[in-house]
Amino acid sequence: MCGIVGYVGPRPVTDVLIPGLSRLEYRGYDSAGIAVHGGDTMTVVKRAGRMSELEAAVAGLDVNGGRGGVGHTRWATHGAPNTTNAHPHQDCAASVVVVHNGIIENWAALKSELVARGHSFASDTDTEVVAHMIEEMADLPLAEAVRQVMKRADGALALVVMRVQDPDLIVGARRHSPLVVGRGDGENFIASDIPAFLEHTRDMVVLDDDRVIEVRPESVTITDLDGNPVEVRERKIEWDFEAAEKGGYPTFMLKEIHEQPDAIADTLLGRVDASGQVQLKELELDDRLLRAVDKVFVVACGTSYHAAMMAKYAIERWTRLPVEIDIASEFRYRDPVLDARSLVVGISQSGETIDTLAAIRYARAQGSTVIGVSNVVDSALARESDAVLYTRAGPEIGVAATKTFTTQLVVMQLLGLYLAQVRGSMDPGAIEQLVTEMRTLPEAVKSVLERDDEIAKIAAEFGDVRDFFFLGRSGDFPVAMEGALKLKEIAYVRAEGYAAGEMKHGPIALIEPGVVVVGVATDNHVKSKTLSNMEEMRARGGTIVLVVEEGDGDAKEVADHVIEVPRGSDLLCTVTAVVPLQLLAYHIATAKGLDVDKPRNLAKTVTVE
Ligand code: AGP
Repeated sequence: MCGIVGYVGPRPVTDVLIPGLSRLEYRGYDSAGIAVHGGDTMTVVKRAGRMSELEAAVAGLDVNGGRGGVGHTRWATHGAPNTTNAHPHQDCAASVVVVHNGIIENWAALKSELVARGHSFASDTDTEVVAHMIEEMADLPLAEAVRQVMKRADGALALVVMRVQDPDLIVGARRHSPLVVGRGDGENFIASDIPAFLEHTRDMVVLDDDRVIEVRPESVTITDLDGNPVEVRERKIEWDFEAAEKGGYPTFMLKEIHEQPDAIADTLLGRVDASGQVQLKELELDDRLLRAVDKVFVVACGTSYHAAMMAKYAIERWTRLPVEIDIASEFRYRDPVLDARSLVVGISQSGETIDTLAAIRYARAQGSTVIGVSNVVDSALARESDAVLYTRAGPEIGVAATKTFTTQLVVMQLLGLYLAQVRGSMDPGAIEQLVTEMRTLPEAVKSVLERDDEIAKIAAEFGDVRDFFFLGRSGDFPVAMEGALKLKEIAYVRAEGYAAGEMKHGPIALIEPGVVVVGVATDNHVKSKTLSNMEEMRARGGTIVLVVEEGDGDAKEVADHVIEVPRGSDLLCTVTAVVPLQLLAYHIATAKGLDVDKPRNLAKTVTVE
């Protein structure tokens, strides 16, 4: 998830690009760059780090005679976040500049072809292939060259391109990644998000998928990938800046909850193939090493620990390897038995949590192999692990983890299936079935999000409740734990996550009228047992909310409120089942007027022990 801005018109170009990019920093902030078209040359300035670095670099340059330009603020997905990998990217002749948001799945194959034809690459990014492809089509109109690129590139992408021989022209294209156009008087703007141009215009052009757009100072033309003209649809923007940054949602947290279908789709991109296999090429660990592993440890904190809990069920079930999970701050102090045959997975969205870093450092010192799972490219966890798997959720601004959690679940499921594939512990047909189902997760999550109003109504009844329990068994247990954590951290309400079967060993003494018990019962092989446990809670006066699969008649008998999620395989269902609990916590907290994006006493990244 990166920020793009482009401009053609009479204003000093950097006066539009730099503030526009600053407005988009919430979309990514590990490096930034601009290219300004000066008529017969293009000036490119890029810097690693926050926008302030780029701003300082641009301040000393005389690029304001430009006629148009493009800029980019990056959230790395391919290649370390340094100046070389910052956008814009150029071809060999420096005649093309490209900025890109998204992932070009088949970039490696495209790059090999280009290298074989003599192109040399400056960066490690997938984006650079586009510049070299367009270089080869110098005789075609720029829009046609971009159409050809869109036909060959797989994946989700928004591209914005300029070429030295076409001053006053920016060409953009989008597929599953946002791109919008702002219309001005004798000037036009293109950006990944509205805040980039909101101070200049409120007239916006909406761009659909697989469309190519030519933006000139006086005109905006849209075509499909065959070059057929498409009607230009305009919209008036009513939002203020704050609302625009949040995509019209009242908070970043709600925006991020709603971004989950896209985040999950991005996380799956290129990792599950049409033949039903899991592809984790980026892991770069020898299969022999993975086959020799005799024990897996998963270490993490907070929400990431709940992803580790799900991973234990998944990896043990699919690979038959024993899995231990640890809260990272406990791991090294308990003197765990590790050796060269241990595989240690550290999960941390920020990749900077000190407890998790200390745990993986300890594991490496014992000779174990470490895989880091992080949402931040080149984070300390990524750098210090033997291999890394990224969640591709984009920056998460809300302190409470939402989209980074569901994408962690997806990555850990992929890792479990990959280990099963490599070790031959599972029938390939069964892997294929799960992989096929994983592809439907974005749609399944979308359908849960459509129940938002229904969940808000349930939440409205719980404004004064002081005690909640969240219960589940098997894969539903980590979901219940996460539901409880969300409620604690944003609504400041006591909420206990428990294994449903454990209640009778003590905590059931706390159940009385006024206590709300949220049960998660989507894991079919334990569902009937969870429902019996919920009967026990109801018999003691608890108010029962149940998250169950669609059409689950039994649940209605036990519960005061039922929230349905789409049917799915055990463990994969964790991804959908947690979404109603995120929404429940969200609505309870916002009804109390609390700031869910910045809950009290919490920090997004915890760098102290
Ligand atoms: C989640 O909502 C929390 N704010 C917190 O528990 C978080 O998951 C934990 O601090 C771990 O962070 P990490 O994933 O960046 O390591």
